[in-house]
Amino acid sequence: MGASYTSNIADADVNGTFMGSHLKSPSDITGFPYFPTGTGSLLQKCLTKDIWEQCKDRRDKFGFTFKQCIFSGAKWTNSGVGVYAGSHDSYYAFAPFLDKIIESYHGHKPSDKHISSMDYNQLNCPSFPPDEDKMINSTRIRVARNLAAYPLGTAVTRQQRKEIEKLVTSALGEFEGDLKGKYFSLETMTEAEKKQLIADHFLFKGGDKYLESAGLERDWPEARGIFHNDAKTFLVWVNEEDQLRIISMQKGSDILQVFKRLADAANKIESKAKFANDEHFGYVSTCPTNMGTGLRASVHINLPKLMKAKDLHQSIADKYHVQIRGIHGEHTETDDGVFDISNLRRLGRNEVQLVQDMYDGVKAMIRAEKSL
Ligand code: ADP
Ligand code: ARG
Repeated sequence: MGASYTSNIADADVNGTFMGSHLKSPSDITGFPYFPTGTGSLLQKCLTKDIWEQCKDRRDKFGFTFKQCIFSGAKWTNSGVGVYAGSHDSYYAFAPFLDKIIESYHGHKPSDKHISSMDYNQLNCPSFPPDEDKMINSTRIRVARNLAAYPLGTAVTRQQRKEIEKLVTSALGEFEGDLKGKYFSLETMTEAEKKQLIADHFLFKGGDKYLESAGLERDWPEARGIFHNDAKTFLVWVNEEDQLRIISMQKGSDILQVFKRLADAANKIESKAKFANDEHFGYVSTCPTNMGTGLRASVHINLPKLMKAKDLHQSIADKYHVQIRGIHGEHTETDDGVFDISNLRRLGRNEVQLVQDMYDGVKAMIRAEKSL
């Protein structure tokens, strides 16, 4: 049977600018989505007509539909991935499709197991010598986590989102010592406070069109916020893309110290909260790119010469499995030759190996910068 095409093409797409389409809601996807020439998303690569026919009317056990899962990438055809899950169960309910997405992004096969290890003694990351340390402004490692008892942020109700905020903030409220801190609700902080936290790289920005179209910005800013210690070296984002983003960061290049703090904090939180997790997928997250460890370890680093040599830096990034972002968060450009370099893979390798990916990739980039 020939698949019919949904008319999700917009004038802007016809003109080749990939600005999104007139799709307003998942139910507007009435047939196989239309992808303009040049669409390079994993959604477009993995969604065959057969898979579409198999999955198009499926929903997970919370009622989250396959069309909701692909809506962001069907609407925003310039997505890199374009897919969000509604719950842990979505990964099984939409397996013919999501297994393919996961294998394409992480190289993790349906029969593979995911094993976690935050044993920082296994990390091989000697301190950077002073000339290299000078190139690195700051180091950050975050992990994504979601509570086992709830669907993901794409599918929670308003009430559930409030419950999650309460559970997480009361657990964090018991922290002592270096991790002791306070919760700042997005609803009550002033515009100036919010701006400052964003400018200093501590807080999420909101207004992300990809997250918005996945239902992750419903009732914004209600039940969202940030917990942090006084030094702002330990932070937790609540109810953004994932229910928790546990973050350790500081100025300079001491990756080991940042990783130790992260491991300690993540373990402490886990002793108070049950996270969605299984043997095959590891920790469950809203975007398939964050499955497994949910870990992104990054440095903000000054590489002015290398970043002008596009083919060279891209080939190093590919070889070492690292990703290059601008320093104002995902989907941003950069200024002044400072870039965010982080591990690309998150699933099928443990946390130590992924921090190692970042360290090795950064060392290779520094070598290249010095040689130019
Ligand atoms: P993610 O939470 O997925 O890691 P982003 O790339 O959007 O997402 O980054 C979130 C925020 O963290 C941004 O403000 C970004 O500048 C900041 N950030 C990321 N890495 C570092 C780093 N190494 N040092 C300082 N800030 C960082
Ligand atoms: N959905 C966006 C895209 O496909 C982001 C994908 C990865 N990033 C993320 N924050 N989950 O381009």
